[in-house]
Amino acid sequence: MNYSKNKLFIDNIAVDKIIKRFGTPTYCYSYNQLKKNIFNFEKNFNKLNPLICFAVKANNNVKILNEIGKLGLGADVVSKGELMAALKSNINPRKIVFSGVGKTSNEIEFAAKKNILLINAESKSEIKAISKISNKISKSIDIGLRLNPNVDAKTIKEITTGKNSNKFGLNEKEVLDLVKEYKNSKFVNIKCLSVHIGSQITSHTPYLRTLNAIQKIIDKSKFRFEYVDLGGGMGINYGQENKLLNYKKYSQHISKFIKKNKVKIIFEPGRSIIGSAGYLLTKIIYIKKTNKINFIILDSGMNDLMRPALYKAYHRIIPCKKSKTKISKIHDFVGPICETTDKFLSVKTFQKLNEGDNIVICDVGAYGKVLSSNYNLRIGASEIIVKNSKVLRIRKKENLNNII
Ligand SMILES: Cc1ncc(COP(=O)(O)O)c(C=O)c1O
Repeated sequence: MNYSKNKLFIDNIAVDKIIKRFGTPTYCYSYNQLKKNIFNFEKNFNKLNPLICFAVKANNNVKILNEIGKLGLGADVVSKGELMAALKSNINPRKIVFSGVGKTSNEIEFAAKKNILLINAESKSEIKAISKISNKISKSIDIGLRLNPNVDAKTIKEITTGKNSNKFGLNEKEVLDLVKEYKNSKFVNIKCLSVHIGSQITSHTPYLRTLNAIQKIIDKSKFRFEYVDLGGGMGINYGQENKLLNYKKYSQHISKFIKKNKVKIIFEPGRSIIGSAGYLLTKIIYIKKTNKINFIILDSGMNDLMRPALYKAYHRIIPCKKSKTKISKIHDFVGPICETTDKFLSVKTFQKLNEGDNIVICDVGAYGKVLSSNYNLRIGASEIIVKNSKVLRIRKKENLNNII
């Protein structure tokens, strides 16, 4: 994304032109940026030769998943729906892992019959359910055990998943007991030890603590895991971060870990693959001026992009036409939803804006469209992709009559 003669372009196509053709609100993805993010991720970890399973929860658009699959990645899914989307996108089942604390018997059976690589189990009860299904379909099932390492990922508390106060995973003792109990089972093959400690992580320290917790399990159990799934969580630069993840240090530590333990590494990145490749294109409906605040009322709301309302996430907002005239007054960028939390951003100064101007909310490729709803009975934003100088619609526009 760049400005040329004060006009905003995404991969050399003027955003105003895209908006004229596709309308607002629309999620727009850049194929170039997606590809760049994947190459960067691979470069950071190339010495480890990992299996990279894209976390479908971050973005489940089938066209996006198809492009990600063609670029060599597998998928990490957390529901039958996500698994179906990954399979429909032609992602190889042998590159799919299934995580999540509440898989139903129906979901487990569906996944087992599709021959996916691993079901990462998160409780004793789940392993019992998997064993029962294995018996029913006469097929042993490859599983991972998800460890909760009780490590603080030092990120937003709502997206922290690796502390013992969180619902995810099994503690050290539970993992050790389960290994003992199931290592010779004819129903489940324990193949993997998995973790995922949170999202938008910007320090390598919590990851190193997690590696130590995994090492402890390996040493104590003396069990040979074929895979270690380190999850995702790599933070991206939304524009307010003081520091970013030191991939080099993280990768070096994993290298040492692999040398010692001879395991295949799996990653489950979501945000770092698609976050910066997505933009929410929107338009100013009205500007409402009070003494202290200019409310910039957009035609997309928290139903399109929940993250700011959900956990005060920061997203840059930029105009499609740059102006040199600055207005020193609080600008609140809000949506039309009847909730006070329907606010994207508050800034102290912004350039002069007019009703009808086109606006872009940045870095919304991950946990954007997937968290959207029809709240206030509003049509959801459609999705398009810019690829090879062409713009394609990749999710149909909703029809209000169908939703009603
Ligand atoms: C089990 C699991 N794996 C991977 C991810 C992806 O995380 P991120 O998008 O931060 O890389 C998540 C997200 O919360 C998750 O719960």
